[in-house]
Amino acid sequence: MNRLLTLFILVLINFTSCKNETKTTISETKNRGLIARKVMVVSAREEASKIGVDILKQGGNAFDAMMATEMALAVAYPYAGNLGGGGFLVYRMADGKKGTLDYREKAPLASTKDMYLDENGAVIKNLSTVGGMAVGIPGTIAGIFKAQERFGKLDVATILKPVIELAKNGYIITRKQETRIAHYDSMIRAVNEKEILYNNNLKADDKIMNLALAETLQRISDNGRDEFYKGETAKKLVAFLKTKGSIITLEDLAKYEAKWRDPITFQYNDLTITSIAPPSSGGVCLTQIMKMIEPFDLKDFGHNSLKTIQVVVEAEKRAYADRSFYLGDPDFVDISLKTLTSDVYLQNRMKNFSFENPTPVDSISHGNVAGYESDETTHYSIVDQFGNAIAVTTTLNGGYGSKLFVDELGFFLNNEMDDFSSKPGEPNYYGLIGADANSIAPEKRMLSSMTPTIIEKDGEFYMSVGTPGGSTIITSVLQTILNVHEFELTMQEAINAPRFHNQWLPDEILMEPNAFDINIIKQLEALGYTINESRSPIIGIVDGILMLENGTLEGGADKRGDDTAVGF
Ligand code: DON
Repeated sequence: MNRLLTLFILVLINFTSCKNETKTTISETKNRGLIARKVMVVSAREEASKIGVDILKQGGNAFDAMMATEMALAVAYPYAGNLGGGGFLVYRMADGKKGTLDYREKAPLASTKDMYLDENGAVIKNLSTVGGMAVGIPGTIAGIFKAQERFGKLDVATILKPVIELAKNGYIITRKQETRIAHYDSMIRAVNEKEILYNNNLKADDKIMNLALAETLQRISDNGRDEFYKGETAKKLVAFLKTKGSIITLEDLAKYEAKWRDPITFQYNDLTITSIAPPSSGGVCLTQIMKMIEPFDLKDFGHNSLKTIQVVVEAEKRAYADRSFYLGDPDFVDISLKTLTSDVYLQNRMKNFSFENPTPVDSISHGNVAGYESDETTHYSIVDQFGNAIAVTTTLNGGYGSKLFVDELGFFLNNEMDDFSSKPGEPNYYGLIGADANSIAPEKRMLSSMTPTIIEKDGEFYMSVGTPGGSTIITSVLQTILNVHEFELTMQEAINAPRFHNQWLPDEILMEPNAFDINIIKQLEALGYTINESRSPIIGIVDGILMLENGTLEGGADKRGDDTAVGF
């Protein structure tokens, strides 16, 4: 019955996802997403993907489109799109040069290691997740300006014009948005102590305008990046934050800088995979998991088969155990990246793996590295007409972040401080455990799981992929890559396929409900695995772009969200 239901759902998803398909010369029967010849933007909102493509049509490149898409998401997808959050960019230029930009939020100067603990050393509930104390110094405006200044072709006013128009003229609330806003309404009202622009009177198909955000964006367009960090916007933001008990000051904003960082690059079979380095754990964990599973013949085991799930889950367990102990902001902690991602270390980590039974979580802990001292986000992928590709994941952390909405400026603020480890061993909102490496310190960046990733094959661009999903981001990106590479699914099929997740602690496998073969679930349980189909109805909302053999692009947009691919 479950299997039949799964098949039905997959057929339905595939049917809806292919509605927009343009005519293609590829003669095959596979379910593909949108096919485009040159240019593709895939994001969480059709409006944002369209604005990104419009900027490309005007002669802009992927970095111009990044600025436009990111800001259009801030307008039309306030759940995660943002000015009040942060993110990571991975890029591959047409000539093959790759790099990453870190525009992750930072802890305010006045932060302390124990700022979320009471006098008995216990974590104070909600302090790091809701309201003024949860907010980290936003990095998004610094990020999009830094990327656009270095690589972009158009002027900022041209790029932001359609975004400002979208905020002024309004956009249509979708059914999923209506549900989400209603879900968070009481919390948003409580935190803001009043009804804000986004409230439960909004229904699907209503049009919503955000004039305050249009004005903020206009000032940023006129005055540049510093408007947000030093100008009128900064002053208004800090004055607002003060009334909400935040410790963020004008000095905090003025000191914020986005940072270029070396990417993490590794080989998996004939793929060259480039992802994000700390302060995100994404690239390190992805490398670890993929290298641990590489010796196994997943293709032979089969897609979502018992053996495939076992191997992947056990590799995930070990990688997340390492994450919790070793990873943090590299500007503050020494991370032995070389060791943690080395073949020898990872082979050793998998030595006690067995198909007979799960490796007990308490026997895994973190591996020994010599020399060691001490629910919402959004992803978009862009390929431009010049051959540049980017993968960008950006977030407020929780849905609508700290729930604080700056009325006068028209945007929500993040609750990213919860991504720090408030207390060693204490799980955060995503159940992730941290240690000293991810403890709070002034100006430190909190550890992320965001995993924007670009993949090359035979030296050419092959795929750009990423997703929201908190701790499940890494494993969703992993499965999407494996689905294309090992199991030969199309980009859209790879995204549609049901996903599972293990993060060491809690000791369970999360599975999308009613999506897996019941016999496999029974066999996993018989082996001693705990299966949880209830905690998360969906795991990740993956967006990606795949280069097909004939040189055209396939966009994969996750129908778990309102995600849409637009291209030509
Ligand atoms: O940086 C991180 O890992 C988290 N703040 C991401 C949060 C997220 O993906 C929420 N989306 N469901």
